[in-house]
Amino acid sequence: MGFPTHRMRRLRRHPTLRRMVSETRLAVDDLILPLFVCPGEGVKTEISSMPGNHHLSVDRVVDEAREVADLGIPAVILFGLPETKDPEGSEGWSMDAPVQRAVAAIKQALPDLMVLTDVCMCEYTSHGHCGVLDGHELLNDPTLELLTRAAVSHARAGADMVAPSDMMDGRVAAIRAGLDAEGFDQVAIMAYAAKYSSAFYGPFREAADSAPAFGDRKAYQMDPANADEALREIALDIDEGADIVMVKPALPYLDILRAAHDSFDVPLAAYNVSGEFAMVHAAAQRGWIDGEAVMMELLLSIRRAGAKMILTYFARDAARVLARH
Ligand code: PBG
Repeated sequence: MGFPTHRMRRLRRHPTLRRMVSETRLAVDDLILPLFVCPGEGVKTEISSMPGNHHLSVDRVVDEAREVADLGIPAVILFGLPETKDPEGSEGWSMDAPVQRAVAAIKQALPDLMVLTDVCMCEYTSHGHCGVLDGHELLNDPTLELLTRAAVSHARAGADMVAPSDMMDGRVAAIRAGLDAEGFDQVAIMAYAAKYSSAFYGPFREAADSAPAFGDRKAYQMDPANADEALREIALDIDEGADIVMVKPALPYLDILRAAHDSFDVPLAAYNVSGEFAMVHAAAQRGWIDGEAVMMELLLSIRRAGAKMILTYFARDAARVLARH
């Protein structure tokens, strides 16, 4: 039985009715804002390709985090720019480095704000790759030790959750064991489980000064052609002890989010990455799209695909829009 008995428009005719049948809701509780911590004092410099996002020194990051908390956003994820880089990325596990100091300062000022840290070596290594190199090859197993040191240092500083983004095999298990051995069995792991080798990371690499000095990340990050492989990656990370799994980027990989949501029962996160953010801003600046409406539609699409949490540079703006409704 079809038309005229069935009329799909009946349930769309009034805003209240539309609210009642709405299948997906975006809430401020779903948002996680990335922040970039840099050396120095009193620094707040806008990142040109990411309007509204800044390089912040430790003293300024606390002010920023307070604004975030006041907006009702439950969490931030910190990325660090080191003072100096070396082949091993040793500032990655220094308790005096910007991220470790920022974690401690934020948790002291705002104990109810959840502080996550990105665990990777690429911001810290002089060659910009995500671990230990032998010539042009990135070595998997020796990198695990460095990642574990970094994760433990973040936990020691007070991080609530660590988020390895390097894509080495076995890193979730290594980090879990390292955290547990140091008494941090309550620190959760959000694994960048299905992280693709993506051109959408461009603005971030400029912001984090983490572009590889040679080659690319195709030998460790995933091939955008692969979907089944993403499910294997996620299954392995859950098996190794991941509390939350992430798909990254978000928008070109909504199919992966949907498949992951249907296949696994751990909380699912999506990273709405820098290039996705920059494209919306660039088009909105030209007056080609309504930036705010596009932002909300994109975030909703990520929720609809199955992600519970969204790491996004839109978190502040979206929180403001949500507070109006
Ligand atoms: C570090 C890392 C990257 C991003 C998050 N963690 C860059 C990369 O893998 O090259 C990208 C985030 C973004 O583009 O917003 N490995």
